[in-house]
Amino acid sequence: MDTKFFRKLGRSVSSLGLGTWRMGEDRSMDDASVAALKRGVELGATMIDTAEMYANGRAEELVGRAIKGFNRDELFIVTKVWPTNASYEGVLKAARRSMDRLGTFIDLYLLHWPSSFPICETMRAMEELVNRGMVKHIGLSNFNVESIEEARACLKKTDIAAVQNRFSPAYRKDYADVIPYAQREGMLYMAYTPIEKGALSGNRLLKRIGEKYGKTPIQVALNWLICIEPVVPIPKASRMEHVDENVGSMGWRLSSEDFTEILNRL
Ligand SMILES: NC(=O)c1ccc[n+]([C@@H]2O[C@H](COP(=O)([O-])OP(=O)(O)OC[C@H]3O[C@@H](n4cnc5c(N)ncnc54)[C@H](OP(=O)(O)O)[C@@H]3O)[C@@H](O)[C@H]2O)c1
Repeated sequence: MDTKFFRKLGRSVSSLGLGTWRMGEDRSMDDASVAALKRGVELGATMIDTAEMYANGRAEELVGRAIKGFNRDELFIVTKVWPTNASYEGVLKAARRSMDRLGTFIDLYLLHWPSSFPICETMRAMEELVNRGMVKHIGLSNFNVESIEEARACLKKTDIAAVQNRFSPAYRKDYADVIPYAQREGMLYMAYTPIEKGALSGNRLLKRIGEKYGKTPIQVALNWLICIEPVVPIPKASRMEHVDENVGSMGWRLSSEDFTEILNRL
């Protein structure tokens, strides 16, 4: 099993997670999406990322279906509250609805985007969810270091355990600040849109490097992300062959020379 330990979580999670954005939008794809998630979990990608916003809660329902029969302790279920629900009462109610759809507690609950509610009001509700045992850890999505610090200053008994932002080998906005910050603080950094919606599959540099390892460009892209200490990429795949390809990014590592070549030349 390829896992990473995070101080702020007090546990290990899989080095690759499974995204779910767009799942549940086209009902004819539901069974395929559930099967794809089950397959990913079976192959060791035991972190699943979803959100109340995805298909108006239907993605969470599909996650609930997919995780039935697995050992709950081995899973790490992440979901998010949409900014319009980020008032104190709004957060408490949104988390309850998400739990009902998932059929289980939430390992990590994220504020999906900065909202117009005072951040301390949202954080107070997030902390209450931890008190009530509905949520194990809390975090932020689409936040920079300064706004993460503002949110942390509101918290009394718990702390921000994770950040989820856009990051890929071709989109590296957080490389010099949010990622080293997460590393220093022992936080999990979840990288979304990690394969640029599949566009990295045609990249010539990734292809050339992958040939040395018997790996595809997508597997090299995901492994490049896994090589960065606090980063766990969360590619979304509804197609079985995509899941199989993506999980093949776990269990090995690029050499530091190849990592650096991608950093400098992609
Ligand atoms: N916090 C946020 O604001 C935020 C924003 C965006 C995304 N996210 C999360 O991050 C997850 C991933 O991001 P994303 O969905 O934007 O983009 P992504 O994971 O980079 O790309 C997903 C797309 O790539 C395709 N794909 C998957 N594996 C592939 C492979 N091996 N080869 C070729 N194509 C492949 C998928 O097709 P199939 O589905 O047909 O297999 C899908 O169309 C989301 O699902 C969501 O959970 C969070």
